Amino acid sequence: MIAFLRRLFTKPAAALSDAQPRDAGSIATLHAAAFRRGWSDEEVEGLLIDRSVIAQRACVGRSFAGFIMSRLAADEAEILSVAVARACQGRGLARQLLTLHLRRLAGLGVHTVFLEVDEFNAPAIKLYSRAGFREVSRRPNYYPLPGGKKAAALVLRRDIG
Ligand SMILES: CC(C)(COP(=O)(O)OP(=O)(O)OC[C@H]1O[C@@H](n2cnc3c(N)ncnc32)[C@H](O)[C@@H]1OP(=O)(O)O)[C@@H](O)C(=O)NCCC(=O)NCCS
Repeated sequence: MIAFLRRLFTKPAAALSDAQPRDAGSIATLHAAAFRRGWSDEEVEGLLIDRSVIAQRACVGRSFAGFIMSRLAADEAEILSVAVARACQGRGLARQLLTLHLRRLAGLGVHTVFLEVDEFNAPAIKLYSRAGFREVSRRPNYYPLPGGKKAAALVLRRDIG
């Protein structure tokens, strides 16, 4: 009985794996919910079949819960996007995805990882700084904010491998 109740109220652990072209629709939906400029299914599919792009996904039960995606160029990579479904946020899923992703990148010979993040995106900045990313430059007036102002993009870097 206790085991039954525990199963009923405990959220299942996330299953992490490499994303496939068939995940394009789920990734596009999640991306559109998370960012002001969405990606179409076709754009995402184009990325997923691009040999210079690698991506991992997280599923919780039958639900698509998150993804992370990078583009590789020589021994560098740029994280293009990471997002976790709102219902699954705050449970360490992005941290797990990022850890797996960095391991995959290192395995592919990547030595340096870059990304851009909105200066006001506290969860993302916390995620990346915890993972050892450091600010290397800043692009002022980069992301549009409601009301016409613009936020800076922080360029973060981490050396791996
Ligand atoms: C950023 C994002 C991917 C984090 O996903 P998540 O699964 O909730 O993150 P985690 O649970 O792994 O937590 C990562 C860190 O962020 C912190 N965090 C999570 N939600 C937070 C919030 N609302 N406010 C402040 N910090 C928060 C966590 O405490 C954790 O830090 P800690 O290890 O010091 O405790 C998620 O908020 C998201 O999808 N946002 C929209 C898309 C986005 O902005 N992507 C990043 C673009 S660069």
